[in-house]
Amino acid sequence: MQDAGVYLFSHSPIHQSGIFVCMSGNTDKHIMRRALKLALKGRGHVSPNPRVGAVITAPDGTIIGEGCHTHFGGLHAEAAALKACDGKDTRGATIYVNLEPCCFQGKTPPCTTAIIKSGIRRVVAAVPDPDPRVNGRGFAALREAGVRVEVGVLADEARHLNRGYFSARERGRAWCAVKVALSLDGKMAALDGESKWITGPEARKLTHALRADHDAVMVGAGTVRHDNPQLTVRSVRGPSPARIILAPHFGIPPGCKLAESAAQIRTILVTTETADPPGADDKTIELLRMKENKFGMIDPEELLSRLVDFGIQSLLIEGGSRVLSSFMQADLIDEISVGYAPSVIGQGISPFEDFNPVSWSGRPRFRIARIKHYGEDVVITYNRVT
Ligand SMILES: NC(=O)c1ccc[n+]([C@@H]2O[C@H](COP(=O)([O-])OP(=O)(O)OC[C@H]3O[C@@H](n4cnc5c(N)ncnc54)[C@H](OP(=O)(O)O)[C@@H]3O)[C@@H](O)[C@H]2O)c1
Repeated sequence: MQDAGVYLFSHSPIHQSGIFVCMSGNTDKHIMRRALKLALKGRGHVSPNPRVGAVITAPDGTIIGEGCHTHFGGLHAEAAALKACDGKDTRGATIYVNLEPCCFQGKTPPCTTAIIKSGIRRVVAAVPDPDPRVNGRGFAALREAGVRVEVGVLADEARHLNRGYFSARERGRAWCAVKVALSLDGKMAALDGESKWITGPEARKLTHALRADHDAVMVGAGTVRHDNPQLTVRSVRGPSPARIILAPHFGIPPGCKLAESAAQIRTILVTTETADPPGADDKTIELLRMKENKFGMIDPEELLSRLVDFGIQSLLIEGGSRVLSSFMQADLIDEISVGYAPSVIGQGISPFEDFNPVSWSGRPRFRIARIKHYGEDVVITYNRVT
């Protein structure tokens, strides 16, 4: 079975700029790309920490050590790469890392100190770390010690790799992605709620890989009722994310597969401060109680902020229409992956059925980030235009 990271990676912007076919030697971009690829190994294991990879090269450009942050609380990538040098001379070397090295004592010692001690003379970093304990101080400590620091190599790819981490620190809310399967006439289900399956097995494999790339996946009560999904990662190799059920009043029906596996996979039921929906007393399910408005609805923005407190920095919403509409209405969707299938549903449910734009000119706009065939289907990924 293919690894989720490899499956996504082969379709990601990290791969698409074609640097893997660049044979013109170890350029900074080429080695940074290697660091990004290493960082991907932390997917599903390091959050709420960032995904970080590091590569160390000798003055002649030869790679002498590399490593990544493999699990929360584990060695940082820089320390892992230094360890991998295993007695090789690191004096005068360069370290490539996709995030600013830390400069504080946390679960592990500061990476800046280890880099300075090792005699490394040059640090090539993709982006500053927005963590208030770092945020430029790591670079300053290195420069003060006479280390050359260059920042900005493959910055966009590096931000995308850690989009949940940046979103939580810069916006105080989880990154919000959507995945939806549509017929060629733009319907996500028939009028009676039937929607299994719209797209084929290849596109569904992508869905599983996307799940493995997020901290949590969420559906609403209607989708639980109609589809009874498991929301696990099965058709590719990778960690299953936490599952969130937005069913403040409907709760969890008997036979719900999400509840049946809640002892093994983290499962959260979002409800209101006063509701007592079915399943709320299930000890294997975490409860997230939130204020409701006069229509019994939960504010999507507040939900994304509360998720950060639950250690969830990136969320993949898999429907249905009412959940998607309320997140679109709140203008919180950062990325949408739409799988278009070559079939017609006719009268049916649209993904944003209840959404009302504030004005024609103010309607939300998205830009195509990727287009890819999966079997008979086409998956287009869009980013919100800000
Ligand atoms: N093609 C696809 O990719 C795809 C994916 C998923 C689902 N589907 C289809 O979509 C259909 C389900 O869509 P749906 O619109 O009926 O159901 P839904 O959006 O899954 O769930 C609606 C329920 O979610 C809760 N909810 C949603 N937004 C909320 C908010 N802001 N605050 C509080 N609660 C909120 C409410 O639960 P309470 O009732 O508890 O208040 C609401 O009744 C099914 O036919 C399913 O097969 C298709």
